[in-house]
Amino acid sequence: MSAVSAAFLSTPPCAELHLHIEGTLEPAMVLALAEKHGITPAAPDVDAFAALYDFTDLSHFLSLYYANTDVLRDAEDFADLTRAYLRRAADGGVMHAEIMFDPQAHLGRGIPLAAVVEGIAAGLAGGERELGVTTGLIAAFLRDRPAAEADAVLTELLDLEAPLLGIGLDSAEVGYPPVLFRDLFARAASLGLHRVAHAGEEGPPEYVTGALDLLGAERIDHGIRSVEDSRLVVRLAEQRVPLTVCPLSNVRLRAVDSLAAHPLVEMMRRGLVVTVNSDDPAYFGGYVDDNYAALAAQFGLARDDLATLALNSVEASFASPDRKSAMRAVVEEWRTAQV
Ligand code: HPA
Ligand code: ZN
Repeated sequence: MSAVSAAFLSTPPCAELHLHIEGTLEPAMVLALAEKHGITPAAPDVDAFAALYDFTDLSHFLSLYYANTDVLRDAEDFADLTRAYLRRAADGGVMHAEIMFDPQAHLGRGIPLAAVVEGIAAGLAGGERELGVTTGLIAAFLRDRPAAEADAVLTELLDLEAPLLGIGLDSAEVGYPPVLFRDLFARAASLGLHRVAHAGEEGPPEYVTGALDLLGAERIDHGIRSVEDSRLVVRLAEQRVPLTVCPLSNVRLRAVDSLAAHPLVEMMRRGLVVTVNSDDPAYFGGYVDDNYAALAAQFGLARDDLATLALNSVEASFASPDRKSAMRAVVEEWRTAQV
């Protein structure tokens, strides 16, 4: 995306830091890949998928999300998925994307990890080349699976020389506290990998504290329940720990009652480094620009507020200092554009 065109976007140019590539699998692509591989999809047409996506909570969503991944079978599928996401993200102003993938979700269905990694890596490289979006890849481990399995998968990823930026922790949260993954994260740290973790989405504020103290997490994915613990809020603000908040996801998974009840504005006011992200845009009604637009409409956010959120995303990214300063300049141009 050029600096000239960025000024005309209705939402700010930004970095996207909380995105599951499997969560970008749109119903139309599920149907096309099901046909390609001769699989029966979860629903017969796009409208029927939409009807299925009335989630009651995180675990209800996860059951459909994992079921749909069954259509992702070869490296080409993963490359096409990644390219489609980056094209849509770039159209919405994403300059830099750090995307997660779930290696265990594919290994568990007998898909070779080499095909998954090769496909996603090809998609990312193409996106960088053709769209100018810089990218990074984060292996997210399923916290409701044994830590020993995650450790073996990390070894396999290293053997494959997967181009990893870091590791993360996702899937069902409650009942699976950070302490279970202390050794895995210590190993990642010793390998020089970045560390992020989902915490405080459905789980309590103690999981956020645990992710920081026991896992050395550099960013917290979601973290919205941190607001329930005022000492934690002060700590997160003082240490400038970024939170990758996903408002439309929180509404659709009923982590909050409504967008109006979402704590994002309160979190900003209390000094937290809040970023806006889409999580699983094919499931939650929008990409990152849709999240910014929904927040702007709901809370009457000014251009300056939106630019602050975007600058937070740049600061919170693991991009190089040079890349960060180039992105900051694009956001500043957007902030001051005469529209
Ligand atoms: N939370 C936990 N696990 C996930 C999510 C999420 O929002 N999306 C994909 N896996
Ligand atoms: Zn997530």
